[in-house]
Amino acid sequence: MNKILIKGGHVIDPSNDRDGIADLLVEGNRVAAIGDQLTVEGAEIIDAKGCTVTPGFVDLHVHLREPGLEYKEDIASGTRAAARGGFTSIVCMPNTSPVIDDETGVRFVLDRAARDGVVRVYPAGAVTKGQKGEELAELGLMYEAGARMFSDDGLPVISARVMSTALTYSKMFGVPISTHQEDPTLAGDGAVNFGRISTLMGLPGMPEEAETVMIARDIELCRRVGGHLHIGHVSTARSVQLIERAREEGINVTCEVTPHHLTLTEDLVKESGYDTNTKMKPPLRTEADRRALISALRDGVIDVVATDHAPHSFDDKDKEYIFADNGITGLETAFALLHDRLVLPGDIPLDRLVEAMTTAPARLLGVEAGSLKEGAIADVTILRTDSEWAVNPGDFASKGKNTPLVGWSLTGKVETVLVDGNIVLRGGELV
Ligand code: DOR
Repeated sequence: MNKILIKGGHVIDPSNDRDGIADLLVEGNRVAAIGDQLTVEGAEIIDAKGCTVTPGFVDLHVHLREPGLEYKEDIASGTRAAARGGFTSIVCMPNTSPVIDDETGVRFVLDRAARDGVVRVYPAGAVTKGQKGEELAELGLMYEAGARMFSDDGLPVISARVMSTALTYSKMFGVPISTHQEDPTLAGDGAVNFGRISTLMGLPGMPEEAETVMIARDIELCRRVGGHLHIGHVSTARSVQLIERAREEGINVTCEVTPHHLTLTEDLVKESGYDTNTKMKPPLRTEADRRALISALRDGVIDVVATDHAPHSFDDKDKEYIFADNGITGLETAFALLHDRLVLPGDIPLDRLVEAMTTAPARLLGVEAGSLKEGAIADVTILRTDSEWAVNPGDFASKGKNTPLVGWSLTGKVETVLVDGNIVLRGGELV
């Protein structure tokens, strides 16, 4: 049996309240032991002195673009990007071409992931047929085929009635409905946050109410019918207040925040001189919003970090600002960005960040991941928190080079990754 002994690392395992130096023994695809000075015959030794050892990261929001949009990304490149970012389990969104809105689509993704992927892939099925927001998709059949989340991400579920029915299904199957909160009548053709920057730059703005009125609506629906409402990429201070209040009332609502909304603001649109890599949905907001998101993540009101990894081709982004596609790549910069910009300055403790990227999303999705307890699946990420590197999209495994972080110097590197007991990344290089 394959044996790997990870020696002398600082193990952070939020599932177990472990935070200290320990050795970790992997046998086959399971964690066999964790403790002091472990010795085992015939094990491959990974020297983790000076490194941080965590459960493999879990990302609830990734665009893999396959089928149909492989010029942006595919399952092979996207899962490699995930491994390079320390992610061992990812949920892929259904806004592909065709949309993943039936069991055939779910099976296709699972088959491709088994053939081409290097990390675990959990497909999200669409809530509505063709993501048109009108007619409920075959949630039951997709669940049976392996879908573990439902979402119309990229687009809102416009019909409140359909959303209500989706939440009823969510209750039946015990899977979250992840939402893209954007009222189209308020969002209009907004390309940046509505306010100072949209005015200064002469760009159409998207007001915060475009997000908050939909959150308020769905909280009301969830209060009524139950189910699990998961709010995707929360971006405003007011959104956080609404979610916090709903949770205090016992409504089953969870939420996620992206690395970019935690670290960048609308000011970057101006500073970058209309760089279309600052364009995403929801848009970058104000510094006050960003501070509120950080506090909410620290306090646990925001459950998880999710990247919304949204790879696009050069041509998709090389347009006038208002015509460029929305989104940025995120898998390969997520940990370093958050570690450098939030953990090192003391805004978020490292153990909370690790929890929000491992144990919390695994629990939310209800999958076996996010733990280094004895007997757990051996998905492991080893980090060098003192290692500095400069972001160069040319080095990305992702086909998407669309990041506003080009040239940024970040401290925190993903060194080694194990998926199912196999080393998929070693010394920062894919195996
Ligand atoms: O910026 C975004 N890009 N936000 C989304 O919700 C969708 C995503 C995409 O698919 O490119």
